[in-house]
Amino acid sequence: MRDTTAGYGLVSRLFHWITALVIFGLFGLGVWMVGLGYYDPYYTTAPHWHKSVGMLLAFALVARFVWRVVNVKPSDDGIAPLERILARVAHWSFYVLLFAIVVTGYLMSTADGRPIHIFDWFAIPSPGTNPGLESTAGAVHVWLSYAVMALAAVHTLAALKHHFYDRKPSLTRMWSGPPQV
Ligand code: HEM
Ligand code: HEM
Repeated sequence: MRDTTAGYGLVSRLFHWITALVIFGLFGLGVWMVGLGYYDPYYTTAPHWHKSVGMLLAFALVARFVWRVVNVKPSDDGIAPLERILARVAHWSFYVLLFAIVVTGYLMSTADGRPIHIFDWFAIPSPGTNPGLESTAGAVHVWLSYAVMALAAVHTLAALKHHFYDRKPSLTRMWSGPPQV
């Protein structure tokens, strides 16, 4: 369950791959939904799904972050010092960018004073009416979403380089966990 110095436990691996899929999905859904016309059947449902899944992701990110800090960090011995620093910067940047994306998403969706309904299941209240916030938070949301996709592309290339070129077990320990002894 827990992370060890040899690799990622089941909880971190599930968090990593489920949130990665959800983030790619939210990006695709976001780009698609803003191009929908008023008479499109998904004109209101697509943003409703985007906001509902996005806010659930926000809770998952908080849980994931807590899990990350209460666990030991898998060792990065054998990785070149510069790549070690770059990996740490990239991993922490993911958390910062993703938190900023969900916060701006929340702020732009609630700037008119209306709550966010999560799949007709429960509602997250608005912090109050704030004219002007919608467009500012919206612009930041879009830019950061593109930035997180760029970071994910670099991160994926780095993971593939470590696996195939350096022949390090980083991809394996994030996929199937630490080696069994
Ligand atoms: C990692 C999580 C998320 C990603 C990657 C993401 C990505 C995107 C993208 C790519 C767009 C389209 C922007 C454009 O091209 O104009 C968008 C729009 C939007 N997002 Fe998100 N989003 C995320 C989370 C959220 C959350 C948590 C909320 C709110 C609760 C939210 C609310 C919105 C809204 C309301 C729009 C429509 C903006 C408009 O009509 O121009 N998003 N998002
Ligand atoms: C939006 C998508 C993604 C995000 C936000 C993300 C985020 C992260 C973060 C924050 C870590 C550090 C460990 C942690 O805190 O859990 C990590 C580790 C890792 N990620 Fe990703 N990731 C994404 C996609 C991918 C993809 C597509 C791949 C591979 C094809 C990948 C491969 C890895 C590997 C191998 C590690 C372990 C590195 C190590 O050995 O320490 N990630 N990822």
